[in-house]
Amino acid sequence: MINPKLLNNFIRVCERAAFGASKFKGKNDKIAADQAAVDEMRSELNKISFQGKVVIGEGEMDEAPMLYIGEKVGTGIGENLDIAVDPLEGTNFVAKNLPNAISVMAIAEKNCLLSAPDTYMEKIAIGSGYPKSLIDLDFSVEKNIKLLANAKNVSPDKLTACVLKRDRHNNIISSLNSLNVKIKFIDDGDVMGVISVVDPTSSIDIYLGTGGGPEGVLAAAALHCLGGQMQTRLVLKDKDEIKRAEALSISDLRKKYSIIDMVKGDVIFCATGITDGDMLKGINDKGAYFEANSFVLHKSQNISKKVKNIIKK
Ligand code: FBP
Repeated sequence: MINPKLLNNFIRVCERAAFGASKFKGKNDKIAADQAAVDEMRSELNKISFQGKVVIGEGEMDEAPMLYIGEKVGTGIGENLDIAVDPLEGTNFVAKNLPNAISVMAIAEKNCLLSAPDTYMEKIAIGSGYPKSLIDLDFSVEKNIKLLANAKNVSPDKLTACVLKRDRHNNIISSLNSLNVKIKFIDDGDVMGVISVVDPTSSIDIYLGTGGGPEGVLAAAALHCLGGQMQTRLVLKDKDEIKRAEALSISDLRKKYSIIDMVKGDVIFCATGITDGDMLKGINDKGAYFEANSFVLHKSQNISKKVKNIIKK
């Protein structure tokens, strides 16, 4: 179990990272926004008494100087925890001052998070309360939709699917159109896209499509706490990506991951809004202070809550 006393420390990490990125809202500079979020997140993490290891971060050691995969964070005294971080999820959203940018992290006990390479990953997710293993990446879109519609006892045209707006999803989109399924397109930000299937305030029934691998594991951490079904599979396009996956000890390159293959045991998940979004309000700069809104989960403590904090700059 992760010490519940650490929860507030981890919330603060996301709040600070979100604040760092928020200074670049609408400045058309996603690199500077990301850097600010990374700097804040790393410096805040290093204040916490724990022995942390980044398993999902800004990239492999040779390409990311900070929060790289394998980097040790924390004071070096305390529990051994693995962390997955995305200090700025939705770099375009911040650069263009659009909704739904967040700072996000997941914390698990040692060796309980899949260290996914920064490659693409196929993803499918639905909410909770359905028969076990209802959906499958190897089923056609039509089959998955019909299974879900049957389980919900509705016709497919009553379902809403969330899809990242990308040309690579044209086939998925045609299949959904042919069944008259409503589509909620997102321009970026598939961590929250996946989580929307378990958000009671959203109308999303299913998430479908290919996005970042690290983002897939972060979303799986939230679903591990909230229920819901998810299946993923890495998409490795060339020898270099295969090498990167193998370097992270992934031997079955076509493995279909369920949530439990990606996240095990106790988990803390935290997401803080940077720009206003569907689920979270963004950072509100109040001069000497800023207001931050976060969505927080702690599995073993049955915590699922939204937290608003006013923080001294
Ligand atoms: P960044 O914040 O790193 O820009 O990622 C945003 C994002 O939309 C992710 O949510 C998603 O997993 C990935 O990019 C999709 O990648 P691509 O833009 O290459 O389709």
